[in-house]
Amino acid sequence: MSARERIAGTVANYVDERTGAAAWMKKNLQKVFPDHWSFMLGEIALYSFVILLLSGTFLTFWFDPSMRTVVYEGSYQPLKEVEMSAAYASALHISFDVRGGLLMRQIHHWAALIFMAAIVVHLLRVFFTGAFRKPREFNWILGIALLTLGIVEGFLGYSLPDDLLSGTGLRIAQAIIQALPVVGTYISFFAFGGAFPGEAFIPRIYTVHILLLPGIFLALITVHLMLVWYQKHTQYPGPGRTEKNVVGYPLMPVYMAKAGGFFFIVFGVTAFLGAVASINPIWLYGPYTPGQISAGSQPDWYMGWLDGLVRMAPPIETHAFGHTISWNILIPGLIIPGILFTGMALYPFIESWITGDKREHHLLDRPRNVPNRTALGVMALTFTLIALINGGNDIIATHFSLTINQIMWFSRIGIIVLPPLAFVITKRICLSLQRADRELVLHGKETGRLVMLPHGEFVEIHEELTPAKKYALTQHEQPKAIELVTEDAQGVLNPKGIRAKLQARFSAANAENIAKPTAAEVKELEAGHH
Ligand code: HEM
Repeated sequence: MSARERIAGTVANYVDERTGAAAWMKKNLQKVFPDHWSFMLGEIALYSFVILLLSGTFLTFWFDPSMRTVVYEGSYQPLKEVEMSAAYASALHISFDVRGGLLMRQIHHWAALIFMAAIVVHLLRVFFTGAFRKPREFNWILGIALLTLGIVEGFLGYSLPDDLLSGTGLRIAQAIIQALPVVGTYISFFAFGGAFPGEAFIPRIYTVHILLLPGIFLALITVHLMLVWYQKHTQYPGPGRTEKNVVGYPLMPVYMAKAGGFFFIVFGVTAFLGAVASINPIWLYGPYTPGQISAGSQPDWYMGWLDGLVRMAPPIETHAFGHTISWNILIPGLIIPGILFTGMALYPFIESWITGDKREHHLLDRPRNVPNRTALGVMALTFTLIALINGGNDIIATHFSLTINQIMWFSRIGIIVLPPLAFVITKRICLSLQRADRELVLHGKETGRLVMLPHGEFVEIHEELTPAKKYALTQHEQPKAIELVTEDAQGVLNPKGIRAKLQARFSAANAENIAKPTAAEVKELEAGHH
């Protein structure tokens, strides 16, 4: 035994004798995880969260969340002698006078963007593969909570420096709060400690941004990962993979090494972006003054869709009993996002109600094999994308020589017409892909080799798929429509309520699939009867 092994053994023994960790570690470090590149998306979210914590802690050493008025005396000349809040001055100080400060600010901001992008892409992976189905519904809801908190946390973060852009964003947030009927004005007064912008809000959101929300994040992410651990990770279907086993590699050493390496890759890419790609150059925006706004003000991308919805709303207001209800803010700012997020959270339950499927699922779906779900996802993405495009209407207008009105009307019409169109087209594509899979299984891959038969006919040689590939393309179940039974066992008419009718209708749409090849069909073809 080498000296190094002896020391490691002594340390391990010392810890084990006091904690009894060896047995637990032995069992858990050997836990098997399935492997697929798409399972790394959640990891990217996790690692960028760690980067956020580290870089954010650095920023707290110098950031001063105070609205006290100061005169800027730092080294950025264009703002010399300008009156501003201490918060803005300290953000400038970090950018220009703290060693490595600008890099850390940039890394922090890039990590936030990557964090949100990773969450969204991870969510899409989970959605399109059906990983949210029983028993993972609770983890899905936790995920939606994390997404919502991420949006709020990011928004609060870029509102802190009190530059012109952040103040403009806060003004919109305050307008959305005020649009709440009856309680809106009170909530706004309560949150801002009086009239907008006031002196209280930045210090308050600072505490929420660096303490409350990161704490909640830590707790929720821990529960999220414990559930992945406990429920086991789903796997893509393939030979030898069943609903009851997990095929993959052990955590130690394979995933420990992979995950450790991957963390540094994510950190490296974020640091590289922070170093070369300027982001949120607050010194160019200037301090916040409620009466000013610069052209081309853009929120971060994960808020852009919300801004886009608000920007496209027609100016509709109702005045009643001395109150004004601003539908143009209430609907796009609160009602639509409310419906979207509640719908997302409830989706696992809605789907299982439509399919009547209450079983556990550990094997993932190929998106084409669940056309309705895939089409719904693409429909929601199209909706969000159009809203996002309108969120950048001023930038698009100047870059493409269009008018704001043209983009607004495109968005207003597009947001109603294009999502349903996306649904129909995606569903058709899924069914075509199913048809292509069926052809592949029955007739093999086209090789491009043409041969002439003795009687002069030309045919293309098809190469048979491997049994593993055939299995992967045919192992899925195809849903059956739930029939609407309108008579009971005795033949007495039993008209069903609207719920049963809706369920039957949706489940019929869900069951629309191209019949996958049956074993008999495959056998017949294999026997050479074309
Ligand atoms: C802070 C944000 C998040 C972090 C750090 C995170 C992290 C992870 C990690 C590391 C995994 C295992 C690897 C993988 O499947 O990618 C995972 C699995 C999972 N996540 Fe997340 N996640 C986050 C947000 C979300 C969101 C927004 C959703 C959906 C609404 C979600 C739903 C799930 C589900 C259902 C699983 C189990 C997947 C399976 O077993 O196939 N997560 N998460």
